[in-house]
Amino acid sequence: MHFSLFEKLGASALLCAWLIYGANFLGGTLVHVREHESAMHAAATHDAAPAAAPTVETDLGTLLAAATPEKGEKVFGKCKACHTIEQGGKNGVGPNMWNVVGGPKAHMEGFAYSAGLADRHGEKWTYENLNAFLTSPKDYIPGTKMSFAGLKDPEDRANVITFLRANTANPPPLPAPAPKAAPAAASAATAPAASASAETAPAAPPADFKQLLAAADPASGEKVFGKCKACHNAEKGGANQVGPNLWNVVGAPVAHHDGFPYSAALAGKSGEKWTYDELNVYLTSPKAWAPGTKMTFAGLSKPEDRAAVIAFLRTRSDSPLPLP
Ligand code: HEC
Ligand code: HEC
Repeated sequence: MHFSLFEKLGASALLCAWLIYGANFLGGTLVHVREHESAMHAAATHDAAPAAAPTVETDLGTLLAAATPEKGEKVFGKCKACHTIEQGGKNGVGPNMWNVVGGPKAHMEGFAYSAGLADRHGEKWTYENLNAFLTSPKDYIPGTKMSFAGLKDPEDRANVITFLRANTANPPPLPAPAPKAAPAAASAATAPAASASAETAPAAPPADFKQLLAAADPASGEKVFGKCKACHNAEKGGANQVGPNLWNVVGAPVAHHDGFPYSAALAGKSGEKWTYDELNVYLTSPKAWAPGTKMTFAGLSKPEDRAAVIAFLRTRSDSPLPLP
């Protein structure tokens, strides 16, 4: 792998931004700062294995393995205005949270759920989709009655999910820590430091996506699109393949292509639009954004790749949506 000076600087800037953000958000305890510092030090000294530690790794299994119900209980302070958690606790503004992990969506009988959530009673609350819901409730369940912006910090989400799990009688097994960056991180052990620090970039908070998009080059996005070509054509009038033709998809309604047999997961979201943010979240992990999607593609773990491919798709539009 080859990284330009700019990419190195960009990746380091993102890492620093994330470190500052993470340290502030977590109350800036010395312990955390130290963890971050040692993770950074490890990355700088090519010691790839410790660099993949939970503080810089976005993988949910890894985050959950490092999370504790005690920390989660503190995060749950933000939820208490609306939710009780103990067995038999009353519904408040929101439903009681006992036994929610692994249970059906809209799990409390007798609670007046929104249609958006009630319609998904056939689906289960997995670790992955709780994580997606808690990132941004209204993006995950349009029209949800949970008027809560979401938890931006992946560690906060992992901790609170672990706390919910501790308050569930028979929780499903935790997902195995499976760092997405593992193969790259392993090769980084023998490769130059540039790749080690570049691999930490996916941990950047979503706020940086705008900047990445502004800096993204459609030509390198076309290369990333090589990964999509097995299933998608992006030319005007191109045929649907395994996946729908993607001409005009940016800014279009979800499930935009008339006549493509979409999954219920995607068709059910046809009231929403493919904004830059939504595309970014979908391409991070299609199945987390739309559980049951027919797009059998793990996702693009690098924000740079997502920004580039989205910039490329933007050029495949009659009248491209203005950049955010
Ligand atoms: C302002 C009130 C409010 C806050 C704060 C809030 N929630 Fe909710 N929550 C709700 C409401 C209302 C619903 C039902 C949503 C619907 O019907 O669309 C809900 C639903 C849920 C569900 C789905 C329950 C089910 O039975 O399917 C989960 C899980 C959840 N909330 C977790 C949390 C967590 C964790 C927090 C804190 C990080 C939180 N909520 C903060 C009001 C709130
Ligand atoms: C293995 C095949 C496959 C690969 C690889 C794949 N996709 Fe898809 N994609 C699909 C399918 C199938 C759907 C329809 C999903 C559904 O109905 O749930 C889809 C849907 C989409 C949609 C939503 C389209 C709409 O009309 O709402 C977008 C955007 C998209 N893919 C982008 C990409 C990008 C970008 C890549 C590469 C980074 C990619 N896909 C890789 C199969 C694939």
